[in-house]
Amino acid sequence: MTTIGIIGAGMIGSQLARLAVKCGYQVVISNSRGPETLSTLVAELGPKARAATPAEAGTAGDLVVVTVPLKAYRAIPVEPLAGKIVIDTNNYYPQRDGHIPELDNESTTTAELLAAHLPTSKVVKAFNHIHAASLTTEGQPAGTKNRRALVIAGDDEAAKATVRTLIDQFGFDVVDAGPLKDGWRIQRDTPGFGPRRNAEEIRRDLAAAKRYNETRS
Ligand SMILES: NC(=O)c1ccc[n+]([C@@H]2O[C@H](COP(=O)([O-])OP(=O)(O)OC[C@H]3O[C@@H](n4cnc5c(N)ncnc54)[C@H](OP(=O)(O)O)[C@@H]3O)[C@@H](O)[C@H]2O)c1
Repeated sequence: MTTIGIIGAGMIGSQLARLAVKCGYQVVISNSRGPETLSTLVAELGPKARAATPAEAGTAGDLVVVTVPLKAYRAIPVEPLAGKIVIDTNNYYPQRDGHIPELDNESTTTAELLAAHLPTSKVVKAFNHIHAASLTTEGQPAGTKNRRALVIAGDDEAAKATVRTLIDQFGFDVVDAGPLKDGWRIQRDTPGFGPRRNAEEIRRDLAAAKRYNETRS
């Protein structure tokens, strides 16, 4: 894997681009308004990065990150991402994204929605529970005691292994929450969503997580 395509160049997308460049990857990053609006970011990222359209970023990426407001997930180009590992960082905020009935009634999860939109992509949930700023301030070398851990979920074991390696390179331990459908255990408002946790702590948080319907009286 040499090139990471990034769809979404906001707080998370730009931070992941910084980490990817630092780790030696080529980055092709995109947003909704067009590559010309990303010149400042690309200048900061240096020669390993370029801006493109979402379809071009998807085509160029050996692995593609989708990091947009959830309401935009249907606009993600399908064909350029076919067969590829796709990292989904997205969270559901009804006040931002509008109400999505399948998420409100918990018959699916955010990552499963994206996976249904990208039927041949290997979607792995990751980076959805860490504040964007912490991505470049809290990473530590592998083996550091009490290293921060990040959660992944996904149905393709080989894809998860690739994402695990990437997250380790970015400076974090990895805890596997299981299949994509169990990604809800690290969704907004669960115990592990947001705070700094090492691997042991976040395993406890995953076990203690409750669905929204369970917490409503
Ligand atoms: N911020 C955090 O700390 C954080 C942490 C974990 C997870 N997340 C989740 O990760 C996702 C991204 O969050 P963020 O904070 O980085 O968002 P953000 O700062 O609002 O940036 C969103 C990016 O998505 C782009 N975008 C929107 N619609 C698009 C489309 N149809 N095609 C291509 N790009 C599109 C935007 O481009 P334009 O500006 O050109 O419209 C922008 O670059 C969200 O689902 C969020 O809930 C955020």
